[in-house]
Amino acid sequence: MQDLAKQVLSNNWRNGYTIPSARLYPFQWNWDSGFIALGWAYIEPQRAIDEVKTMFKGQWLNGNLPHINFHHPDANYFPGPDIWQTDVIPKFDTELSTSGITQPPVFGFIVDELAELLADKVDGLDDFLREIYPKILAFHRYLYEKRDPHNEGLVYIQHNWESGTDNSPIWDDILNGMNVENARDVSSLRRDIKNVDSSQRPTNDNYIRYLALIDLYIQYGYRDEDIAAHCPFLVQDVLFNSLLVKSNFGLINLAKRLGFDTAEIEAWNTKTIEAINTKLWDETTGFYYAYDLRNQRSIRIKTSSGFAPLYGGICNSNQAEKLVDHLQNTFIRGNDWYLCPSTAVNEPSFNPLKYWRGPVWINLNWMIIQGLTSYGYGELAARVKRDTLRLIEEHGMYEYFDPRPEAEALEERGIGADLFSWTAALYLDLLNKH
Ligand code: GLC
Repeated sequence: MQDLAKQVLSNNWRNGYTIPSARLYPFQWNWDSGFIALGWAYIEPQRAIDEVKTMFKGQWLNGNLPHINFHHPDANYFPGPDIWQTDVIPKFDTELSTSGITQPPVFGFIVDELAELLADKVDGLDDFLREIYPKILAFHRYLYEKRDPHNEGLVYIQHNWESGTDNSPIWDDILNGMNVENARDVSSLRRDIKNVDSSQRPTNDNYIRYLALIDLYIQYGYRDEDIAAHCPFLVQDVLFNSLLVKSNFGLINLAKRLGFDTAEIEAWNTKTIEAINTKLWDETTGFYYAYDLRNQRSIRIKTSSGFAPLYGGICNSNQAEKLVDHLQNTFIRGNDWYLCPSTAVNEPSFNPLKYWRGPVWINLNWMIIQGLTSYGYGELAARVKRDTLRLIEEHGMYEYFDPRPEAEALEERGIGADLFSWTAALYLDLLNKH
Protein backbone atom coordinates (compact mmCIF):
# COMPACT_ATOMS: atom_id res chain seq x y z
CA MET A 1 0.00 0.00 0.00
CA GLN A 2 2.91 2.33 0.64
CA ASP A 3 3.82 1.76 -3.00
CA LEU A 4 0.38 2.91 -4.08
CA ALA A 5 0.74 6.01 -1.89
CA LYS A 6 4.05 6.81 -3.55
CA GLN A 7 2.55 6.24 -6.94
CA VAL A 8 -0.36 8.57 -6.22
CA LEU A 9 2.00 11.35 -5.22
CA SER A 10 4.28 10.72 -8.20
CA ASN A 11 1.36 10.73 -10.65
CA ASN A 12 0.00 13.94 -9.17
CA TRP A 13 3.39 15.68 -9.23
CA ARG A 14 3.72 18.46 -11.76
CA ASN A 15 6.59 20.81 -12.28
CA GLY A 16 7.46 21.77 -8.66
CA TYR A 17 4.13 21.02 -6.95
CA THR A 18 1.46 18.34 -6.49
CA ILE A 19 -2.18 18.54 -7.52
CA PRO A 20 -4.72 17.14 -5.00
CA SER A 21 -6.36 14.87 -7.60
CA ALA A 22 -6.34 14.73 -11.37
CA ARG A 23 -10.11 14.29 -11.60
CA LEU A 24 -11.27 17.19 -9.48
CA TYR A 25 -8.47 19.54 -8.53
CA PRO A 26 -5.89 20.28 -11.26
CA PHE A 27 -3.94 23.10 -9.52
CA GLN A 28 -1.95 23.65 -6.32
CA TRP A 29 -4.09 24.02 -3.18
CA ASN A 30 -2.79 25.71 -0.05
CA TRP A 31 -3.32 23.36 2.92
CA ASP A 32 -3.21 20.29 0.66
CA SER A 33 0.28 21.36 -0.31
CA GLY A 34 1.36 21.34 3.35
CA PHE A 35 0.09 17.81 4.02
CA ILE A 36 1.51 16.62 0.71
CA ALA A 37 4.96 18.00 1.55
CA LEU A 38 5.05 15.69 4.59
CA GLY A 39 4.42 12.71 2.30
CA TRP A 40 7.26 13.73 -0.02
CA ALA A 41 9.62 13.84 2.97
CA TYR A 42 9.50 10.01 3.03
CA ILE A 43 9.94 9.48 -0.69
CA GLU A 44 11.81 12.29 -2.39
CA PRO A 45 12.81 14.78 0.30
CA GLN A 46 13.82 17.52 -2.14
CA ARG A 47 10.26 17.60 -3.45
CA ALA A 48 8.96 18.45 0.04
CA ILE A 49 11.01 21.62 -0.12
CA ASP A 50 10.03 22.40 -3.72
CA GLU A 51 6.35 21.90 -2.89
CA VAL A 52 6.44 24.48 -0.10
CA LYS A 53 8.55 26.96 -2.05
CA THR A 54 6.22 26.74 -5.03
CA MET A 55 3.19 27.34 -2.79
CA PHE A 56 4.70 30.55 -1.47
CA LYS A 57 5.28 31.84 -5.00
CA GLY A 58 1.58 32.70 -4.91
CA GLN A 59 1.86 34.85 -1.75
CA TRP A 60 0.55 38.40 -2.03
CA LEU A 61 2.55 41.47 -1.02
CA ASN A 62 0.25 41.99 1.97
CA GLY A 63 1.24 38.54 3.28
CA ASN A 64 -1.94 36.65 2.43
CA LEU A 65 -1.42 33.14 1.06
CA PRO A 66 -4.12 32.26 -1.52
CA HIS A 67 -5.97 28.97 -1.44
CA ILE A 68 -5.16 28.08 -5.07
CA ASN A 69 -2.17 28.78 -7.31
CA PHE A 70 -3.28 28.46 -10.93
CA HIS A 71 0.15 27.52 -12.31
CA HIS A 72 -1.19 26.66 -15.75
CA PRO A 73 -4.56 26.99 -17.50
CA ASP A 74 -7.00 24.09 -17.10
CA ALA A 75 -10.60 24.27 -18.27
CA ASN A 76 -11.51 21.30 -16.09
CA TYR A 77 -12.06 23.42 -12.97
CA PHE A 78 -14.54 26.06 -11.88
CA PRO A 79 -14.11 28.78 -10.62
CA GLY A 80 -10.85 29.51 -12.44
CA PRO A 81 -8.73 32.70 -12.60
CA ASP A 82 -11.19 34.51 -14.88
CA ILE A 83 -13.79 34.36 -12.10
CA TRP A 84 -11.47 35.43 -9.25
CA GLN A 85 -10.02 38.43 -11.09
CA THR A 86 -7.13 38.92 -8.70
CA ASP A 87 -4.97 40.83 -11.21
CA VAL A 88 -5.68 43.99 -9.18
CA ILE A 89 -3.76 42.56 -6.24
CA PRO A 90 -0.06 43.37 -5.71
CA LYS A 91 1.78 40.02 -5.76
CA PHE A 92 5.41 38.95 -5.54
CA ASP A 93 5.02 37.00 -8.75
CA THR A 94 2.92 39.08 -11.10
CA GLU A 95 2.81 36.25 -13.66
CA LEU A 96 1.11 33.75 -11.36
CA SER A 97 -2.70 33.74 -11.14
CA THR A 98 -4.19 32.89 -7.76
CA SER A 99 -7.60 32.65 -6.14
CA GLY A 100 -8.69 35.51 -3.88
CA ILE A 101 -9.11 33.76 -0.51
CA THR A 102 -6.90 31.71 1.80
CA GLN A 103 -7.09 28.35 3.63
CA PRO A 104 -6.19 27.13 7.16
CA PRO A 105 -2.61 28.13 8.10
CA VAL A 106 -0.67 24.86 8.19
CA PHE A 107 2.83 25.82 7.10
CA GLY A 108 4.15 26.79 10.55
CA PHE A 109 3.71 23.27 11.88
CA ILE A 110 4.40 21.58 8.55
CA VAL A 111 7.77 23.26 8.09
CA ASP A 112 8.61 22.60 11.74
CA GLU A 113 7.92 18.88 11.06
CA LEU A 114 9.97 19.04 7.88
CA ALA A 115 12.91 20.52 9.77
CA GLU A 116 13.01 17.26 11.73
CA LEU A 117 12.07 14.83 8.94
CA LEU A 118 14.54 16.24 6.42
CA ALA A 119 17.55 16.49 8.74
CA ASP A 120 20.48 14.78 6.98
CA LYS A 121 18.31 14.05 3.95
CA VAL A 122 18.73 17.23 1.90
CA ASP A 123 21.42 19.81 1.32
CA GLY A 124 20.78 23.37 2.40
CA LEU A 125 17.97 22.64 4.88
CA ASP A 126 18.75 25.70 7.00
CA ASP A 127 18.84 27.94 3.90
CA PHE A 128 15.34 26.74 3.07
CA LEU A 129 14.15 27.35 6.64
CA ARG A 130 15.63 30.84 6.62
CA GLU A 131 13.95 31.61 3.33
CA ILE A 132 10.51 30.29 4.23
CA TYR A 133 10.28 31.40 7.89
CA PRO A 134 9.71 35.14 7.17
CA LYS A 135 7.07 34.26 4.57
CA ILE A 136 5.05 32.18 6.99
CA LEU A 137 5.47 34.89 9.61
CA ALA A 138 4.21 37.50 7.11
CA PHE A 139 1.11 35.37 6.48
CA HIS A 140 0.34 35.16 10.20
CA ARG A 141 0.95 38.89 10.58
CA TYR A 142 -1.54 39.51 7.77
CA LEU A 143 -4.11 37.35 9.57
CA TYR A 144 -3.68 39.14 12.89
CA GLU A 145 -3.57 42.63 11.39
CA LYS A 146 -6.31 42.32 8.78
CA ARG A 147 -8.61 39.51 9.91
CA ASP A 148 -9.09 40.44 13.56
CA PRO A 149 -10.88 43.82 13.45
CA HIS A 150 -11.67 43.93 17.20
CA ASN A 151 -8.23 42.73 18.24
CA GLU A 152 -9.59 39.66 20.01
CA GLY A 153 -6.85 37.23 19.05
CA LEU A 154 -9.35 35.36 16.84
CA VAL A 155 -9.06 35.72 13.07
CA TYR A 156 -12.08 35.48 10.80
CA ILE A 157 -12.65 33.63 7.56
CA GLN A 158 -14.66 35.40 4.87
CA HIS A 159 -15.71 32.38 2.80
CA ASN A 160 -16.65 28.79 3.62
CA TRP A 161 -13.86 27.66 1.27
CA GLU A 162 -11.35 29.35 3.58
CA SER A 163 -12.30 26.90 6.32
CA GLY A 164 -11.13 23.88 4.32
CA THR A 165 -14.41 22.22 5.36
CA ASP A 166 -16.30 23.61 2.37
CA ASN A 167 -19.93 22.56 2.82
CA SER A 168 -19.94 21.89 6.54
CA PRO A 169 -23.38 22.56 8.07
CA ILE A 170 -21.69 25.28 10.17
CA TRP A 171 -22.11 27.66 7.23
CA ASP A 172 -25.72 26.81 6.29
CA ASP A 173 -27.57 29.60 8.08
CA ILE A 174 -25.18 32.32 6.97
CA LEU A 175 -25.21 31.23 3.34
CA ASN A 176 -28.97 30.70 3.28
CA GLY A 177 -29.49 34.14 4.82
CA MET A 178 -27.67 35.87 1.96
CA ASN A 179 -29.68 37.93 -0.48
CA VAL A 180 -28.90 36.36 -3.85
CA GLU A 181 -31.71 37.91 -5.90
CA ASN A 182 -29.22 39.49 -8.27
CA ALA A 183 -26.61 36.75 -8.10
CA ARG A 184 -25.72 34.86 -11.24
CA ASP A 185 -26.66 31.24 -11.74
CA VAL A 186 -23.40 29.39 -12.27
CA SER A 187 -24.68 25.81 -12.29
CA SER A 188 -23.88 25.22 -15.97
CA LEU A 189 -20.26 26.27 -15.38
CA ARG A 190 -19.59 23.71 -12.65
CA ARG A 191 -17.05 21.00 -13.49
CA ASP A 192 -17.01 19.05 -10.21
CA ILE A 193 -20.36 17.34 -10.76
CA LYS A 194 -19.25 16.17 -14.17
CA ASN A 195 -16.57 14.12 -12.37
CA VAL A 196 -18.20 13.04 -9.10
CA ASP A 197 -21.75 11.99 -8.16
CA SER A 198 -23.60 15.26 -7.50
CA SER A 199 -25.34 13.84 -4.40
CA GLN A 200 -21.89 13.77 -2.77
CA ARG A 201 -21.08 17.39 -3.63
CA PRO A 202 -22.47 20.85 -2.69
CA THR A 203 -25.74 21.85 -4.39
CA ASN A 204 -26.20 24.40 -7.20
CA ASP A 205 -27.90 26.72 -4.73
CA ASN A 206 -24.77 26.50 -2.53
CA TYR A 207 -22.62 27.44 -5.53
CA ILE A 208 -24.69 30.56 -6.31
CA ARG A 209 -23.89 31.78 -2.80
CA TYR A 210 -20.20 30.81 -2.95
CA LEU A 211 -19.87 32.82 -6.16
CA ALA A 212 -21.88 35.77 -4.86
CA LEU A 213 -19.24 36.17 -2.13
CA ILE A 214 -16.46 36.23 -4.72
CA ASP A 215 -18.34 38.87 -6.72
CA LEU A 216 -18.52 40.97 -3.58
CA TYR A 217 -14.75 40.84 -3.04
CA ILE A 218 -14.23 41.92 -6.63
CA GLN A 219 -16.67 44.79 -6.12
CA TYR A 220 -14.56 45.91 -3.14
CA GLY A 221 -11.22 45.39 -4.90
CA TYR A 222 -10.30 42.70 -2.32
CA ARG A 223 -9.76 45.40 0.34
CA ASP A 224 -9.93 43.73 3.75
CA GLU A 225 -11.43 46.77 5.50
CA ASP A 226 -14.35 46.85 3.03
CA ILE A 227 -14.85 43.12 3.22
CA ALA A 228 -14.91 43.29 7.02
CA ALA A 229 -17.52 46.05 6.80
CA HIS A 230 -19.80 44.50 4.16
CA CYS A 231 -19.28 40.75 3.79
CA PRO A 232 -22.24 38.70 5.11
CA PHE A 233 -19.82 35.82 5.82
CA LEU A 234 -17.40 36.63 8.67
CA VAL A 235 -16.72 33.67 10.94
CA GLN A 236 -14.23 32.92 13.70
CA ASP A 237 -13.70 29.25 12.96
CA VAL A 238 -12.39 26.69 15.45
CA LEU A 239 -10.29 24.69 13.00
CA PHE A 240 -8.72 27.74 11.36
CA ASN A 241 -7.79 29.41 14.66
CA SER A 242 -6.56 26.15 16.22
CA LEU A 243 -4.27 25.50 13.27
CA LEU A 244 -3.03 29.07 13.56
CA VAL A 245 -2.03 28.32 17.16
CA LYS A 246 -0.36 25.07 16.13
CA SER A 247 1.50 26.90 13.37
CA ASN A 248 2.52 29.65 15.77
CA PHE A 249 4.07 26.95 17.98
CA GLY A 250 5.83 25.61 14.89
CA LEU A 251 7.18 29.07 14.09
CA ILE A 252 8.40 29.49 17.67
CA ASN A 253 10.40 26.26 17.36
CA LEU A 254 11.84 27.37 14.03
CA ALA A 255 12.70 30.83 15.38
CA LYS A 256 14.62 29.28 18.27
CA ARG A 257 16.54 27.06 15.90
CA LEU A 258 17.37 29.98 13.60
CA GLY A 259 18.09 32.47 16.38
CA PHE A 260 15.13 34.82 15.82
CA ASP A 261 13.06 36.60 18.43
CA THR A 262 9.83 34.85 19.42
CA ALA A 263 8.10 37.54 21.52
CA GLU A 264 5.57 38.63 18.86
CA ILE A 265 4.47 35.06 18.14
CA GLU A 266 4.30 34.10 21.82
CA ALA A 267 2.03 37.09 22.48
CA TRP A 268 -0.26 36.09 19.58
CA ASN A 269 -0.54 32.56 20.90
CA THR A 270 -1.31 33.51 24.49
CA LYS A 271 -4.12 35.72 23.26
CA THR A 272 -5.55 33.27 20.71
CA ILE A 273 -5.51 30.31 23.09
CA GLU A 274 -7.32 32.36 25.72
CA ALA A 275 -9.90 33.56 23.17
CA ILE A 276 -10.58 30.08 21.78
CA ASN A 277 -11.13 28.82 25.32
CA THR A 278 -13.55 31.58 26.22
CA LYS A 279 -15.40 32.74 23.12
CA LEU A 280 -15.44 29.45 21.18
CA TRP A 281 -15.79 27.05 24.12
CA ASP A 282 -19.16 26.19 25.65
CA GLU A 283 -18.87 24.63 29.10
CA THR A 284 -22.50 23.44 29.24
CA THR A 285 -22.32 21.24 26.18
CA GLY A 286 -18.56 20.67 26.51
CA PHE A 287 -17.62 21.54 22.94
CA TYR A 288 -15.99 24.21 20.75
CA TYR A 289 -18.18 26.12 18.25
CA ALA A 290 -17.51 28.62 15.46
CA TYR A 291 -18.66 32.21 16.07
CA ASP A 292 -20.60 34.20 13.45
CA LEU A 293 -18.96 37.60 13.78
CA ARG A 294 -21.36 39.34 11.42
CA ASN A 295 -24.51 38.28 13.29
CA GLN A 296 -22.79 37.97 16.65
CA ARG A 297 -23.84 34.48 17.59
CA SER A 298 -22.29 31.16 18.37
CA ILE A 299 -23.02 28.48 15.75
CA ARG A 300 -24.02 25.47 17.85
CA ILE A 301 -23.28 22.64 15.44
CA LYS A 302 -20.84 19.88 16.34
CA THR A 303 -18.33 19.02 13.64
CA SER A 304 -14.91 17.40 13.70
CA SER A 305 -13.36 20.90 13.58
CA GLY A 306 -14.27 21.06 17.28
CA PHE A 307 -11.51 18.52 18.04
CA ALA A 308 -8.76 20.67 16.51
CA PRO A 309 -7.96 22.38 19.87
CA LEU A 310 -6.61 18.98 21.00
CA TYR A 311 -4.13 19.09 18.14
CA GLY A 312 -3.36 22.75 18.81
CA GLY A 313 -2.54 22.00 22.48
CA ILE A 314 -5.20 24.55 23.42
CA CYS A 315 -7.54 22.79 25.86
CA ASN A 316 -7.03 21.91 29.50
CA SER A 317 -7.52 18.35 30.73
CA ASN A 318 -11.15 18.98 31.68
CA GLN A 319 -11.97 20.23 28.21
CA ALA A 320 -10.06 17.34 26.62
CA GLU A 321 -12.12 14.87 28.65
CA LYS A 322 -15.36 16.39 27.40
CA LEU A 323 -14.17 16.27 23.80
CA VAL A 324 -13.21 12.63 24.20
CA ASP A 325 -16.67 11.89 25.49
CA HIS A 326 -18.23 13.51 22.41
CA LEU A 327 -15.89 11.68 20.08
CA GLN A 328 -17.07 8.35 21.46
CA ASN A 329 -20.72 9.17 22.02
CA THR A 330 -22.09 11.93 19.81
CA PHE A 331 -20.03 11.41 16.67
CA ILE A 332 -20.81 7.72 16.18
CA ARG A 333 -23.81 5.47 16.87
CA GLY A 334 -21.80 2.43 17.95
CA ASN A 335 -18.34 0.95 18.06
CA ASP A 336 -18.67 -0.56 14.62
CA TRP A 337 -18.69 2.97 13.12
CA TYR A 338 -15.50 4.49 11.79
CA LEU A 339 -14.06 7.52 13.55
CA CYS A 340 -14.24 10.37 12.97
CA PRO A 341 -17.31 11.55 11.04
CA SER A 342 -16.91 15.18 9.93
CA THR A 343 -20.31 16.07 11.39
CA ALA A 344 -21.74 14.56 14.61
CA VAL A 345 -24.15 11.77 13.83
CA ASN A 346 -26.86 13.35 16.02
CA GLU A 347 -26.90 16.62 14.03
CA PRO A 348 -30.00 16.86 11.79
CA SER A 349 -27.70 17.85 8.92
CA PHE A 350 -25.61 14.65 9.23
CA ASN A 351 -25.21 12.93 5.86
CA PRO A 352 -22.70 10.04 5.66
CA LEU A 353 -22.03 10.54 1.95
CA LYS A 354 -21.92 14.26 1.48
CA TYR A 355 -18.48 15.80 1.64
CA TRP A 356 -18.00 17.64 4.97
CA ARG A 357 -21.48 16.77 6.32
CA GLY A 358 -20.60 13.30 7.64
CA PRO A 359 -17.82 11.41 5.83
CA VAL A 360 -14.44 10.76 7.47
CA TRP A 361 -11.53 12.91 6.19
CA ILE A 362 -7.98 11.69 6.65
CA ASN A 363 -6.39 15.04 7.50
CA LEU A 364 -8.80 15.62 10.40
CA ASN A 365 -8.17 12.09 11.66
CA TRP A 366 -4.42 12.71 11.45
CA MET A 367 -4.85 15.75 13.71
CA ILE A 368 -7.19 13.95 16.12
CA ILE A 369 -4.76 11.04 16.51
CA GLN A 370 -1.92 13.38 17.48
CA GLY A 371 -4.16 15.48 19.70
CA LEU A 372 -5.45 12.45 21.63
CA THR A 373 -1.93 11.11 22.07
CA SER A 374 -0.62 14.38 23.44
CA TYR A 375 -3.44 14.54 26.03
CA GLY A 376 -2.75 10.98 27.19
CA TYR A 377 -5.60 9.17 25.39
CA GLY A 378 -3.30 6.63 23.78
CA GLU A 379 -5.87 3.87 23.44
CA LEU A 380 -8.42 6.04 21.71
CA ALA A 381 -5.71 7.48 19.48
CA ALA A 382 -4.77 3.93 18.50
CA ARG A 383 -8.42 3.22 17.67
CA VAL A 384 -8.66 6.29 15.39
CA LYS A 385 -5.37 5.34 13.77
CA ARG A 386 -6.56 1.78 13.20
CA ASP A 387 -9.78 3.04 11.63
CA THR A 388 -7.84 5.45 9.42
CA LEU A 389 -5.41 2.83 8.15
CA ARG A 390 -8.20 0.32 7.52
CA LEU A 391 -10.24 2.82 5.53
CA ILE A 392 -7.28 3.46 3.27
CA GLU A 393 -5.94 -0.09 3.06
CA GLU A 394 -9.30 -1.73 2.41
CA HIS A 395 -10.86 0.92 0.20
CA GLY A 396 -8.16 3.04 -1.39
CA MET A 397 -6.73 6.56 -1.51
CA TYR A 398 -10.08 8.35 -1.50
CA GLU A 399 -10.89 11.92 -0.64
CA TYR A 400 -13.43 10.94 2.05
CA PHE A 401 -15.12 7.82 3.46
CA ASP A 402 -18.58 6.71 4.56
CA PRO A 403 -18.33 6.09 8.36
CA ARG A 404 -21.33 3.73 8.70
CA PRO A 405 -20.95 0.00 9.36
CA GLU A 406 -23.42 -0.87 6.61
CA ALA A 407 -21.21 0.79 4.00
CA GLU A 408 -19.21 -2.46 4.01
CA ALA A 409 -22.03 -4.21 2.22
CA LEU A 410 -22.50 -1.34 -0.22
CA GLU A 411 -18.81 -1.59 -1.16
CA GLU A 412 -18.70 2.13 -1.68
CA ARG A 413 -17.07 3.36 1.41
CA GLY A 414 -14.45 5.39 -0.43
CA ILE A 415 -16.08 8.46 -2.03
CA GLY A 416 -15.28 11.79 -3.71
CA ALA A 417 -12.05 11.94 -5.71
CA ASP A 418 -9.86 8.84 -5.80
CA LEU A 419 -6.04 8.80 -5.87
CA PHE A 420 -6.23 11.81 -3.57
CA SER A 421 -2.85 13.26 -2.65
CA TRP A 422 -3.24 14.20 1.02
CA THR A 423 -4.73 10.78 1.82
CA ALA A 424 -1.60 9.20 0.30
CA ALA A 425 0.78 11.64 2.00
CA LEU A 426 -0.72 11.38 5.48
CA TYR A 427 -0.94 7.59 5.15
CA LEU A 428 2.84 7.59 4.72
CA ASP A 429 3.25 9.91 7.70
CA LEU A 430 0.97 7.80 9.90
CA LEU A 431 2.84 4.62 9.07
CA ASN A 432 6.30 6.08 9.43
CA LYS A 433 5.98 8.70 12.16
CA HIS A 434 2.75 9.05 14.11
C1 GLC B 1 -12.02 20.50 -1.33
C2 GLC B 1 -11.78 20.44 0.17
C3 GLC B 1 -10.65 21.36 0.54
C4 GLC B 1 -9.42 20.99 -0.28
C5 GLC B 1 -9.74 21.00 -1.79
C6 GLC B 1 -8.61 20.45 -2.63
O1 GLC B 1 -12.41 21.77 -1.73
O2 GLC B 1 -12.94 20.77 0.87
O3 GLC B 1 -10.36 21.27 1.91
O4 GLC B 1 -8.38 21.88 -0.03
O5 GLC B 1 -10.85 20.19 -2.02
O6 GLC B 1 -8.31 19.14 -2.27
